[in-house]
Amino acid sequence: MGVLIQNSKYLDFLTKLGIGGAHPGGINLTKEIFKKETIKKSSRILDVGCGTGQTAAYLAYKYGAYVTGIDISPIMVAKAKRRIEKKHLAVNIIHCSVEEIPLPDSDFDFVISESVLSFANKPRALKEIFRLLKTGGRFVAIEQTINYPLKEDEETEIKEFYGFDSLSTKKDWVTFFREAGFEHIRIQKNTAIHSVPDFHYSEDIAPEIYEIMQKHFELIFKYQGNLGYRIYTCTK
Ligand SMILES: C[S@@+](CC[C@H](N)C(=O)[O-])C[C@H]1O[C@@H](n2cnc3c(N)ncnc32)[C@H](O)[C@@H]1O
Repeated sequence: MGVLIQNSKYLDFLTKLGIGGAHPGGINLTKEIFKKETIKKSSRILDVGCGTGQTAAYLAYKYGAYVTGIDISPIMVAKAKRRIEKKHLAVNIIHCSVEEIPLPDSDFDFVISESVLSFANKPRALKEIFRLLKTGGRFVAIEQTINYPLKEDEETEIKEFYGFDSLSTKKDWVTFFREAGFEHIRIQKNTAIHSVPDFHYSEDIAPEIYEIMQKHFELIFKYQGNLGYRIYTCTK
């Protein structure tokens, strides 16, 4: 299977610096969300777009659960595997796209996606996630959400820089989840929780990477009233 890596300056920056917990709220928000879910040692959990594997490692360590992480970036996959090996955890890391995951149907009790789906084709990714979940399985997503539709040039600026496939409002997300077959869709907002990310630097970090970081902060500031995120939970 060919793995297609989208053109995203932002993902170049994240992968080269190896930023772990690269989602709003970071690992502390992840911990808070999973406290409310019923996770057992026998639970099978899939982290789509696992990045450097911070969440996957946490879930395996904390709950002793069977965790699998997948990511489209070979650099992230290598960094995640290194983290898992160092911690002597039994987490399976696979290099693939969330749109086409080489795993059997109905194999997971939980799927988590943390700042990933906007980079992918959402209907295709959600169809895969739905396929992989057992009936009654839970999907947890912390995903970028716009508060209102943007002007065309603004939308282009954001999509081009981040390599987003699309920008979605809360209502758009709910439609995507429903169309994929999900039920009991719940939306939460939690802007009170923050975390310090961890870093797994590559050896070859070009100076442009720091310019990309600066541009990222400029865009966050420019669109601060609109570019946000929500926590979505739903059931198959
Ligand atoms: C913002 S980072 C978040 C990483 C991780 N979830 C975290 O919170 O630290 C987005 C991640 O999604 C991955 N990604 C982007 N498009 C993807 C796709 N189509 N399939 C799988 N992973 C993808 C990127 O390589 C990157 O690791």
